[in-house]
Amino acid sequence: MKIHVLLSPLNAEELYFTGKTTVVIDVLRATSTIINAIENGAKEMRPIGTIEFALKASGSKVLLGGERNTNKIEGFNLGNSPIEYSKENVENKSIVFFTTNGSRAIVRAKFSENLLMCSFSNIKAVAEKLLKINKDITILCAGSEGMFCLEDTVCAGLLIKEISSITNDIEISDAGKASKILSETYSDDLHKMLSESEHGKKLVNNGFEDDIAFCSKLNSTDVVPTFNSDFIKIDKSS
Ligand code: MLT
Repeated sequence: MKIHVLLSPLNAEELYFTGKTTVVIDVLRATSTIINAIENGAKEMRPIGTIEFALKASGSKVLLGGERNTNKIEGFNLGNSPIEYSKENVENKSIVFFTTNGSRAIVRAKFSENLLMCSFSNIKAVAEKLLKINKDITILCAGSEGMFCLEDTVCAGLLIKEISSITNDIEISDAGKASKILSETYSDDLHKMLSESEHGKKLVNNGFEDDIAFCSKLNSTDVVPTFNSDFIKIDKSS
């Protein structure tokens, strides 16, 4: 099993993902939010690449969720704080979801055969699911505006470490090896790493300090949302 890490979505075009098994990571905060929404009973989430498309896709039966510049978008029901996606707010709801980097990374990887959502909260469960799928893996870090970001790369490294603890039968790309080394440097205190990251500082400045604590929880759930034909849901076959 080969494991490769894309340190930014700009490292690959849409067609690169055709037939691949891809894991999207946006720790702060899109994939952390998606995992929490699905865990709290959201029926499905539709990630989209533009706000205009979100507004077109809205209707009386769907919620609009997401952010621009970390804040809730005018006319949307929910922002991108994972804590907002409580059972009370999202159970049985369909949610159209736009975020600056995360939802766009998912849309970019939409031709993948298997497309899984990962954050610190579900690394162990994602590793187990990937081993069941048993195919080469591409880990896609959502990054920040096309640039590298620390927290997604650390999460990618921890995912590789988790897979390596279960099987030796893996071949890791150079970017994967670099991610693993970074994760060894930062895994002792994920909260500190997130707080001191560029995006973490922005979130704290904008009043989202509680989200940093929420997103730093490791292996708090076994939910692995997957994207299939337009929607993210729980894969009931797993
Ligand atoms: C993104 O997709 O860029 C992020 O999730 C931004 C955020 O809401 O913190």
